[in-house]
Amino acid sequence: MASLSRVTCCCLVALAAAGSPGVSLQPRHERVFAGAREGLTSSARWLQLQLDILQLRVQACGRRIDCLLSASMAPRPADGVLQGWDEASAYATVEQSTSADSSWELKLTSGSVRVWRRSVPGSKVNEVRANGIIDASPKAVVSLLCDGDAHAIRSYNPLYAEGFDVCRIDHRTRLSYASVKAFFPLKPRDTLTRVAIWELPRLGSGATALLLQHAEHPDVPVYSEYVRAKILRGMHLIQPVEGCPGKSNFTLCTQVDAGGIIPSFVMNIITTQDSLQFMDRLEKAAAQRE
Ligand SMILES: *[C@@H]1O[C@H](CO)[C@@H](O)[C@H](O)[C@H]1NC(C)=O
Repeated sequence: MASLSRVTCCCLVALAAAGSPGVSLQPRHERVFAGAREGLTSSARWLQLQLDILQLRVQACGRRIDCLLSASMAPRPADGVLQGWDEASAYATVEQSTSADSSWELKLTSGSVRVWRRSVPGSKVNEVRANGIIDASPKAVVSLLCDGDAHAIRSYNPLYAEGFDVCRIDHRTRLSYASVKAFFPLKPRDTLTRVAIWELPRLGSGATALLLQHAEHPDVPVYSEYVRAKILRGMHLIQPVEGCPGKSNFTLCTQVDAGGIIPSFVMNIITTQDSLQFMDRLEKAAAQRE
């Protein structure tokens, strides 16, 4: 049921590592914890938060059951504001992310992996792109990235805490909640992200892209235990390598607003470094699936 959730976390490995005493005070949270705030220990508040998340999970399950009962996977009207990508925009997103455009500045090279960065007009956070040849077949890489099991997710994203799908938007797209751990006393991050899986045969047989973008949903408030990070734009592209069925051409492209008070120049540097490690972990974990 959480088959896409972990994907939202992929881009967040660096965030929790960077951490920050983020600032977020949200009205709904204040209501949930009203009264508890003074007398209770922080572990009781943490428990309350877990219960709140559990309640969200139950709501999400209920919604899926509604969908099944109505014999269609049509999203509920309340979810209607959220839309997936259509085929043209999926290809366009991938094309922009993989372009040879001179705005991309090459920042790092390690083995076959290269990492670029570019500034995005109107945004203080850069877009980061990594590309490299991974020693695992496209099938293994896709299967790993689509595995909702927390253990599988942690194999390439060790700071992953938990996640679940809030609702289905269309047959390719879900809204997923995910959280990543942080080290005391820094706040952990969470994300709410539209995640879609697109097979893109024009980019090679078996070519698959995961598209990610931050979204809002009335059922998912911002908890003050977390800083809500926003994946402004995210893409994982898995392409075959001609003549090498056991290898994948993997491209990661991400622009993340980490929230809180991490200076964006620090984030830009960390995300660049982190994408190298991400590729490395992904390769090792996917190779075990062959
Ligand atoms: C890998 O994919 C990128 C982006 O689509 C492309 O530019 C590059 O030529 C590909 N490399 C190989 C070896 O297939």
